[in-house]
This record gives sequence, structure tokens and C-alpha cells, in this order.
Amino acid sequence: MIRRLLILLLAAITVFSFSQERSLAKDSKASTKKPRYRTRIPASKQRSGDPEKGYKYLVEGDYIVSGIPIGLFSMARPPGKNQLKRKGDQAPLPYHFTAVTAPNGVRVVTSNCLRCHAQTLNGKFILGLGNSTVDFTADRTSTVSMVDGMIAGLHGPDSPQRQAYKTLHERFLLVSPLIQTKVRGVNPADNLAFVLGRHRDPETLEWIDKPKTTEKTKKHVVIPTDVPPLWLLKKKNALYYTASGRGDFSRLMMASSLLTLKDSSEAAEIDKNFADVLAFLETLEAPKWPKEIDSAKALQGEQVFKDECARCHGTYGPDGEFPNYMIKLDTIKTDPMLSDWQNSVDSHSYSKSWFGKGPYAARLEPGNGYIAPPLDGIWATAPYLHNGSVPDILTLLNSKLRPPYWQRTFNTSDYDFGTLGWKYQKHENSNKGDKNIYDTTLPGYGNQGHTFGDDLSEEDRQAVIEYLKTL
Ligand code: HEC
Ligand code: HEC
Repeated sequence: MIRRLLILLLAAITVFSFSQERSLAKDSKASTKKPRYRTRIPASKQRSGDPEKGYKYLVEGDYIVSGIPIGLFSMARPPGKNQLKRKGDQAPLPYHFTAVTAPNGVRVVTSNCLRCHAQTLNGKFILGLGNSTVDFTADRTSTVSMVDGMIAGLHGPDSPQRQAYKTLHERFLLVSPLIQTKVRGVNPADNLAFVLGRHRDPETLEWIDKPKTTEKTKKHVVIPTDVPPLWLLKKKNALYYTASGRGDFSRLMMASSLLTLKDSSEAAEIDKNFADVLAFLETLEAPKWPKEIDSAKALQGEQVFKDECARCHGTYGPDGEFPNYMIKLDTIKTDPMLSDWQNSVDSHSYSKSWFGKGPYAARLEPGNGYIAPPLDGIWATAPYLHNGSVPDILTLLNSKLRPPYWQRTFNTSDYDFGTLGWKYQKHENSNKGDKNIYDTTLPGYGNQGHTFGDDLSEEDRQAVIEYLKTL
């Protein structure tokens, strides 16, 4: 009798403690205490600006002041579609070029931000969409020198026209070999900014021909990234995949000017305009899915998304909230190279430089992982992950199906409306030398990690995909 009571008691205790454990586990999941796999990125104050002025500056402004004389440029390139509806001598230029006046008065044509931050998709031009077709695989040294030869031939070796091209020419000769990617479609902008930064005096921002080399800078690696869409900016508390861009966004965004600016007083002038550029970029909206959506399926997908994805990516719709989480490498497990590189370079020198001074200071604060990005307009932004290693959403949500070697046509109408991404062809082996084939076995180009969709049933996965179309 007593034994039986004891057993019952024991059983009761076990059940009680088990249920207590469960409810504790539940509590800790629901509590606001930080789980260790993620950290919240705090917001930083931004300057306000005028979006209209910002747009004009973005597509007509003189933030890069060296380039090809406009006469020669027009001879080489027939007038384009004037997608930006610009006026005057800007009108015939392709959207990613701007005509500016060089310091010596010569009118030149140079690249603008849309070289990397705009693209056509299914025949529609989308400002703010990352250019995923850009080709940085070749060393352009000989091309830029050939252009210099043409300018010298046309205008004379000592002409003001050649002088107006000189800065860009010299800087390209320096950076071109240092920003070559191994496959087409990925972008080396982080390296570009880093190399240019090293050649600047931190205080005066004047150009230094021979910066000090250290053991770290000798080991140069090119980091491939997929250009993020700019319509997400208004939701983000930090810039860049590693969430390292903190403080004043406008100042961080003017890195392209490091290519040609003279010194910090010119930087201060450029800086004034970038608050307007930020204001404009914050008006950008994600492009809408252009086809029908099965709303019942999307509703089912929304529930799956809330259960499986929202803890990192937030919620959407009128009451949506974006939590701004940085996810640690050992949880996300995607290619670590970008994060590791960001930690290896000297971020302090940026934060201590002109950029980190004054009321609108910016700083670089590397962490150890990647930001879980907002997913607005995600359908349009293939390929996926920070290095563009995954061609579509279907395989992003089923890691076993991700192709190790894949090739697209780079025709921006070869979009697959079923898988939400690029149509592609699989290859069995890395095709050495064919840069059109994305090879995920290369360092920095890995397609591993983010396995959160793997355990979904095929029905749930398809439902999530349907839901993602609505964002
Ligand atoms: C050579 C290509 C290139 C050019 C030119 C370029 N960018 Fe970028 N930009 C990138 C890449 C790549 C990233 C992502 C880097 C990362 O997160 O590691 C980026 C990131 C950004 C971000 C942060 C986005 C985010 O969600 O974190 C902003 C804002 C931005 N660029 C604005 C600009 C502006 C404004 C210009 C012109 C002054 C410009 N960029 C010129 C390639 C470029
Ligand atoms: C633990 C946090 C976490 C969970 C859970 C999570 N994600 Fe992510 N997600 C991330 C991070 C971090 C990245 C960026 C990784 C990178 O680029 O290396 C990302 C990237 C993505 C991307 C690619 C974004 C781009 O622009 O390339 C998509 C799409 C995505 N997630 C969808 C989902 C869906 C759908 C789910 C649920 C099935 C989900 N995620 C669950 C953290 C998470």
C-alpha cells in the first residue's frame, strides 16, 4: 500500500516537474530576454533631408569628378532610352552614367551609384534593385589605359580633357587588379571602399600614393557580395550585411566619392547632399509581384512564416514590425568569409577618421554574423544570401536542392515565376575559367547554412513561397 502510494507520488512529481520544465521552456522562448543566437541592432539618429533634391543629386550630382570627356563618350555610345527622364547633356546617357564638370572645367561622363544599385527585371527598370548581372571578373587595366590613349590622341597628351580623366585613370589602374571577382554577378564594393580608404589620410582625406602595408593588408582577398536592394533602408538600423555601418548613414553612403575627392573640405560639401540622398532612398518602395497570388495559400504560408521565420525576419503588413536582429555565425552558418573579413580589417581607423567626427559621425562596428534582412520585395532580388550563391527562393528554403555549380544567362527576363529566382542550368563540376558559372566551392562563395526551410513539408514550403510574393 505504502509502496503504491510512493510510486504514485513519484509519478506525480515527475509529471509535475516535467510540465514545469515545459512551461519554463515556453516562458524563456516567449520572454524578452535575449537568446544568445541574436542581438538587437540599436537605431541611430539620422539627418533629415529633401527627397527631391536627393534624387537629383543621386542621378546628376558631382560626387565623382573625373571621367571620360563627354564628346568622346557620345561618339562611343549611342543615345540610350533616357530611363531617368533627365534633361540637357544627361538625357542621352545610360542611367548609370552622369555628366559632371571636372575641377578644371571639362565636362566629363562618369559612373553613378546606379551602376550597382539599379537593374531591369522582366523588362521593368527598378531603381534601388541591386545589379546582379555586373561583371567584375576581368582586370580592366588595359581598357582604362586604352581610353586614356584615345583621349590623348583626340585632344592631345597635355590637354585639359586628358587631365580631367587622369584621376579616374590612375585610381582604376590601382584598384582594378584588387577587385576582380571569381564569378560574374557578384560585387566587390567592400574591397573597393577598403582599398580607397587605405589610400586616404584619415584626417585630411588627401590621397596617399603609398600607404603603409601591414601583414593583414598584404593578404588581399576579394569578398563577393550580392548588392542589397535599397528600398529596405528605411527599416534598417544599420547598413551592410554584417550590420557594421552604424551612426550617420548618409556619411557611410558617400564611400564612392573616395575615388576622386580632393580632401575633407570637398568631402564636407558632398556630405551635405547625402542627407537628401538618404531621404530619397527612404521613399523607395519594394516592387510588387507582377502576377496573381493564391490568397488562401498565401494565408496558410503567413502562418508558417509566423511560426518559423518571423522571430528573425519580423512581421509584415500594416502592423508589421521589423526587429533588426543580427544573427550569429554559428546559428546562421552561411559563408563566414565576409563576416570574418569585416572583423579582420581595421574598422577603428574609419571610426577615428574624418567620417567619425562631428555631429554626423559614422562608424564601422563589425559583429560576428549577418543581419536577418527585411523581406519586402524579396521575389525580385535573386540570387539569394549575402554572396548571391543561391539562385532562387525554392532552393533557399530547401538546402539539399541548392546547386553547387549553376549558370544563368544574365538576361534579366530569364526569371522563373515558379521558384522565385533566376532560371539556371546545373553543372556537374566547377568549370574552371568559365566565370559565368557560379562555383559555390570557392572560398567566400559557399551556399551553406540558413537551413530553416529544410524541415517544412513541401506544401508548407510552397505556401511560404506564395506568402513571400505578397511582401
Ligand atoms: C561598385 C558597386 C557599388 C557602387 C558604385 C555603389 N554601391 Fe552601394 N553597395 C554596394 C554593395 C555590394 C553593397 C553591400 C555591401 C555589404 O553589405 O557588404 C552596398 C551597400 C549600400 C548601402 C547599404 C544597404 C544596406 O541595406 O545595408 C547603401 C545605402 C548604399 N550602398 C548606397 C550607395 C550610394 C548612395 C552609392 C553612390 C554614392 C553607392 N551605394 C554606390 C555596391 C555599390
Ligand atoms: C535564426 C534566424 C532566421 C530564421 C529563423 C530564418 N532566417 Fe532567413 N535569414 C536570416 C539571416 C541572418 C539571413 C541572411 C544570411 C546571409 O545572407 O548570409 C537570412 C536570409 C534569408 C533570405 C535571403 C535574403 C536575401 O536577400 O538574400 C530569405 C529569402 C529568407 N532568409 C527567408 C526565410 C524564411 C522564409 C524563413 C522561415 C522558413 C527564414 N528565413 C528563417 C535569419 C533567419
